[in-house]
Amino acid sequence: MHNRIESVEQYKSSYHSSLNESESYWSKVADTFTWKKEWNSVTSGNFEELNVKWFDGAKLNITENCLDRHVQNHPDKIAIYWEPNDPSDLAISFTYAEVLEQVNKFSNVLVENGVNKGDRVCFYMSMIPELLFGVLACARVGAVHSVVFGGFSAKALAGRVSDCKAKLLITNDQAYRGTKIIPLKKIVDEAIQGCESVEKVLVFNRTGAEVPMTEGRDIWLNDLLAQASDTFRPVEMNAEDPLFILYTSGSTGTPKGLQHTTAGYMVWASETFKNVFQAGKNDVYWCSADIGWITGHSYIAYGPMLNGVTQVMFEGVPTFPDPSRFWQVCDKYKVSHFYTAPTAIRALEACGPEHVEKADLSSLKVLGTVGEPINEDAWNWYNEKVGKKKCPIVDTWWQTETGGIMISSLAGVTPSIPCHATLPLPGVEPVLVNDKGEKIEGNPAQGNLCINRPWPGMARTIYGDHERYRQTYFSTYPGKYFTGDGARRDDDGNYRITGRVDDVINVSGHRIGTAEVEDVIDEHPEVVEAAVVGFPHDIKGQGIMAYIIPKNTNDSDNEGIFELLNEMITKDIGPIAKLDRIVLANDLPKTRSGKIMRRILRKVAAGEFDQLGDISTLLNPEAVESIIEKVKAQ
Ligand code: PRX
Repeated sequence: MHNRIESVEQYKSSYHSSLNESESYWSKVADTFTWKKEWNSVTSGNFEELNVKWFDGAKLNITENCLDRHVQNHPDKIAIYWEPNDPSDLAISFTYAEVLEQVNKFSNVLVENGVNKGDRVCFYMSMIPELLFGVLACARVGAVHSVVFGGFSAKALAGRVSDCKAKLLITNDQAYRGTKIIPLKKIVDEAIQGCESVEKVLVFNRTGAEVPMTEGRDIWLNDLLAQASDTFRPVEMNAEDPLFILYTSGSTGTPKGLQHTTAGYMVWASETFKNVFQAGKNDVYWCSADIGWITGHSYIAYGPMLNGVTQVMFEGVPTFPDPSRFWQVCDKYKVSHFYTAPTAIRALEACGPEHVEKADLSSLKVLGTVGEPINEDAWNWYNEKVGKKKCPIVDTWWQTETGGIMISSLAGVTPSIPCHATLPLPGVEPVLVNDKGEKIEGNPAQGNLCINRPWPGMARTIYGDHERYRQTYFSTYPGKYFTGDGARRDDDGNYRITGRVDDVINVSGHRIGTAEVEDVIDEHPEVVEAAVVGFPHDIKGQGIMAYIIPKNTNDSDNEGIFELLNEMITKDIGPIAKLDRIVLANDLPKTRSGKIMRRILRKVAAGEFDQLGDISTLLNPEAVESIIEKVKAQ
């Protein structure tokens, strides 16, 4: 086993050699995995030509690394403790041998239903074990999985399924989510009408609800799995064969299907998990994310499984049946490593200390956060109330595009600093640039965060649109990958992420493109023009605010517009993109070339009325006064 980094000195020397002797460093790391054939070259390609490859020429199946090799060494070790939404329902655990069996069965089901190497398979499921088995089964048969979070609407699902031309769609009848029941199959039925590529829908019976099944298209997955053989020979894949597509929002256009490939992603998910979390043989790790997001891909489905770790998989929500649920689950399974999002921490903090105080939590050793900047208050609460000041906190900065953690402390190895992601992981060369793209040397510094060289886990393209991939990430600052985030670097080189510097809003750790929301609002017949911005929100990190110019200037005629817009947004995107506030304006501040000045709209939304800068060059400076008045009056 390639040694995990266990001291500051080792971190420094690993970091140094990962950049200066990159080939030998990564080849040593890669040697610890199971390959069918070794690579011809460790790394090739660059950001200019956008032809990055890692371990090219190698052959492997990632699931042999997630499952088979652990089954040889410790078949009876628990891989998954599955905790249902309702604590009084039956919890189930699976050993590594049992997960392999389930994944083999699922693999046979996929193949028997026409899935071939390279086909896309879409999942629209809740956090039940079959989602995890299905994802790994895709990898085992060489199909490309694309998981769509179960909170997205029919229209959003349809857009993703059509974009990746999925052959198979896999769902469950309904999902339990706290007190709610989400009618997944019904949403699938609505979505699938326009999705010509889909040949079959496999439906897992989770709640036992009566759901309409379309003859010849819909099949009960439970029946198929029950009849399937539990042996399956994993398909040999090339290092650069696609492993999955995952959609995420950007500043412009429709969501992009980021495509990750097999070997580089495997090495990245595994190494980053090992070094950041430092989970030992008998530890129990729990990541509370949904597999529908990248965190659930890299740090539920792949990272922990690649490392042979025991983990908890949770179907429910933090506040059901009450706000002590997370902590009860930690106690129940003696969780040692807990990974969640700042928004969950803030929401639970707001419910009062009694819920966390009644839990024991003595099993906890390491805490992690991901998805958005963590504020000091939430960091302190997490540290004191949950970690009892004895658990290092890893603030892990990364993105759907990066495949795995990029900047983070290593638990108990390199220092944690409140609200700082701290230091780059081996292989990551961050740079800060100013708006002209010039590198900012020296410390301290503040600027736009870029990555200066390829790393194994990076997405290779946007599915079906390599040019858009180049445009989105590599054209703002040529020769560099632009993250869309701003960051500060302190005197010692520690990074603190300050948030998005583009038109992406981070709501409860989820990315929402302002353009996507504006597109929905613009469809409302009474809307002349709309601009959507983020504003600071106590629980969600950022909330969504829309400035709207209605056709009708009489306020009473616009009653109900807020609710109506939110209905439209829920239908087109999903409830996560709902507006928190709207301002009905007569005019929006614009530049002389007619572009809406979002910078000013953001400041006004944040209540920073005295930090607007020079507005005299605007086409219509008076518009600013008028929106300030409206916002103040709210
Ligand atoms: O703005 C950053 C924020 O989340 C964005 C990436 O979102 P997504 O692709 O959905 O992936 C989220 C899970 C990795 C980033 O551009 N972000 C993520 N982690 C952090 C963060 N912001 C501050 N601190 C973090 N630890």
